[in-house]
Amino acid sequence: MIETDRLLVRPPVEDDRARFVELFTDEAFTVWSGGVHDVASANERFDGMLVLADAVPYAKQPVIEKDTGTIVGYSGVGTVVFEGLDRLEWGWRFVPAVRGKGYATEATKALLDLADSQGNGEMLCIIATGNNPSMRVAEKAGFHKWRTHVWDEAPGQDTQLLLRSIGAGGEPMLAPNPNG
Ligand SMILES: CC(C)(COP(=O)(O)OP(=O)(O)OC[C@H]1O[C@@H](n2cnc3c(N)ncnc32)[C@H](O)[C@@H]1OP(=O)(O)O)[C@@H](O)C(=O)NCCC(=O)NCCS
Repeated sequence: MIETDRLLVRPPVEDDRARFVELFTDEAFTVWSGGVHDVASANERFDGMLVLADAVPYAKQPVIEKDTGTIVGYSGVGTVVFEGLDRLEWGWRFVPAVRGKGYATEATKALLDLADSQGNGEMLCIIATGNNPSMRVAEKAGFHKWRTHVWDEAPGQDTQLLLRSIGAGGEPMLAPNPNG
């Protein structure tokens, strides 16, 4: 459990499922993503969060607002295949009601401190071109622009690829091997 001034950040547990299904099926929460989920795919996405959190201590974590005790978003890594590498990729997402309060930056910096203490490598972050609030969070968390990329799945939307050294930096950080 990580505690900051206003937030708690901790690995997801089964009891968080209903809240994340609610969030993943909400259009306002899933803006600037691959799209809103239905209940089945929201559950699958939450299953994926639980599995990755078992292997990576800074996998996507619920962020809880201390004042209300409510899960208001997440920060941490997921995985993405890019140019043949199954990479870790950092992301963040918060409910509209709390945006603009600095929560994404506060939670992300705290979790990045944990990542920095766990190993060395190069972390990827992908942000749709035009998502300026997210670009600001990335900058404040120490990511820098690498290149622009258009994904085959979304030919109409340019994305910005950003990088940040974790620990002493090094090779691209990869998703855990499911075969150990
Ligand atoms: C992106 C997001 C996570 C940011 O969360 P947040 O808690 O509001 O972030 P912060 O308050 O820490 O920082 C937001 C920054 O963007 C800035 N910002 C807000 N609106 C902006 C805009 N329209 N253009 C440029 N910058 C903007 C804020 O001023 C702030 O920067 P500052 O500290 O220099 O003032 C949140 O807006 C969100 O969940 N958006 C929808 C989902 C999403 O886009 N996720 C990221 C996908 S890559």
